[in-house]
Amino acid sequence: MTTRITIRRPDDWHLHVRDGEMLKAVLPYTAKEFGRAILMPNLVPPVRTREDAVAYRARVMAALPAGSRFTPLLACYLTDETDPDDVERGFRDGVFTAVKLYPANATTNSAAGVSDYRKITRVLERLEKIGMPFLMHGEEVGADIDIFDREKVFIERRLSKWVKEFPGLHMVLEHLSSKDGADFVKSAAPQVGGTITPYHLNLTRTDWLGAGLKPMMYAMPVIKTACDREALRKAATSGAACYFLGTDSAPHPFARKIAINGVPGIFNAPVALATYAKVFEEEGALDKLEAFTSLNGPKHYRLPPNEDKIVLEKSPWTAPVEIKVAGADERTLVYRGGETIEWKVVE
Ligand code: DOR
Ligand code: ZN
Repeated sequence: MTTRITIRRPDDWHLHVRDGEMLKAVLPYTAKEFGRAILMPNLVPPVRTREDAVAYRARVMAALPAGSRFTPLLACYLTDETDPDDVERGFRDGVFTAVKLYPANATTNSAAGVSDYRKITRVLERLEKIGMPFLMHGEEVGADIDIFDREKVFIERRLSKWVKEFPGLHMVLEHLSSKDGADFVKSAAPQVGGTITPYHLNLTRTDWLGAGLKPMMYAMPVIKTACDREALRKAATSGAACYFLGTDSAPHPFARKIAINGVPGIFNAPVALATYAKVFEEEGALDKLEAFTSLNGPKHYRLPPNEDKIVLEKSPWTAPVEIKVAGADERTLVYRGGETIEWKVVE
């Protein structure tokens, strides 16, 4: 039985670290284990322009622990008004790594997202031209669309068309949550890649809703069936280059997370790598872990993989239930908090 593995340092291609005190509280968990991360721009207000991104990056750098070698990569929040010239300038001078689509009102802080797809054509044309990645919260929102079908309908109505309309556009369907999503990415690779979260690999909607309502397991896209989870596990552990790590770690203040009208988002950074390792071990695929965590992502983004390594060991520990955030009795719940975690990053 394998009890120790050494892999190249992973990157997180989908991460929310927020701002202010929350940023300071959560960033160290990612910076400790990951080389780089794409920081999601759904702040209040969002990171919409190159200027917003320069300022946000400075706040992120200031929140990093002393001596950290972590590199934040920023995404531009796409709106109906996004200026292709501003995006291109930001990409050329390294301020932006990608552009992120939030369909309006699809999830947390997405009110300023895209409400009229005709208005983003010029941006998509520009991204295609300059080779800049386009990241998608791939859910179609509407009163007529069942929440469990949002990903599938987005693929049917939007993504399958964009793949043909913009053949040179390099895309990522974020947080794959369904068999439909995993299958589509495979069929459209290498033009389209897909990130997969630890919680979509680990949970089913029965875990979330079947034995008491667990607000901690509420995220967008919602956790789906055992069949979907099975397809995602097979995809992630297949070694196929189109699938890679994106934790979607998304902290919220405790009170908002457990409110009557609770917010979607699962803070999993403290247990993310350990949870991926558990899933790969359960699937008998620890030999494919490094491809998923550390090689496929950089390849899709056309960046070199990290040079240094980390070591994971089978050495049980208990995840903290919550972490403190400075300010008035503030805290955020940790995914798998209180559980015995099998794997641990030891070096
Ligand atoms: O569950 C989610 N939370 N899904 C998202 O897409 C956004 C995220 C957040 O920002 O909290
Ligand atoms: Zn996200």
